[in-house]
Amino acid sequence: MTPKLGVNIDHVATLRQARGTLYPNVIDAAQLAIAGGAHGITVHLREDRRHIQLRDVEELKQVLTVPLNLEMAATAEMRDIACRIRPQEVCLVPEKRQELTTEGGLDVAKQIDYLRGFCAALMDQDIKVSLFIDPTQAQIDASCSVGADLIELHTGGYADLITGSEQDNALSKLRAAANHATQAGLVVNAGHGLNYDNVRPVAAIEHINCLNIGHAIIAHAIEVGLTQAVKHMLRAMQGSRADQ
Ligand code: PXP
Repeated sequence: MTPKLGVNIDHVATLRQARGTLYPNVIDAAQLAIAGGAHGITVHLREDRRHIQLRDVEELKQVLTVPLNLEMAATAEMRDIACRIRPQEVCLVPEKRQELTTEGGLDVAKQIDYLRGFCAALMDQDIKVSLFIDPTQAQIDASCSVGADLIELHTGGYADLITGSEQDNALSKLRAAANHATQAGLVVNAGHGLNYDNVRPVAAIEHINCLNIGHAIIAHAIEVGLTQAVKHMLRAMQGSRADQ
């Protein structure tokens, strides 16, 4: 079965923040993505607030008709925000101030005790917790120990590769990780760096529940509009040419 599609709309807020205007409006963008078939909306509230702002998360939680997935660092400030706003899902990611986008997965294995308590606080508020990890058995096993509901497999390693054999190798790792995690009882999402050309093999991996995609969709939306861009991505996930 083709996975669901979660649309990351951070870039809409990036454009708004670039000029300090009230537009483009992230709520409108979320509605356009939903009109195109998005199954969920994802935003990353960064410590430096470079794009999504706190009020965006508050408003999205109030108006969305699909689940809101809040990406965030595992800090006390963010835990308190999430527990107050109560998005349906939180995805814990590593965060570095200077990075252009999330680099690498969370090292769950190195902070099992800390993350166990962190996840429990979120789960107490009925928030499903996902951990953004590299596709390795060690990180999956650690995610189980922590008590996470879901993992999001980092597909950046696959998306950055050029040659077919390198990509096949990376896909095998993603497939093995998805199998292992499913057997361990975790729901498996995936994302990062996926675009219209490279998404199909990942969407075809068994057991993947949802793909979270942002950059490629928002970039395509400049040409065709956000609703169409989401429709095209859903088609690309099924193996049809995006514009057919
Ligand atoms: N998943 C996670 C955890 C991310 O941090 C990001 C980027 O914000 C994405 C998915 C989406 O990545 P992209 O914008 O490359 O599609």
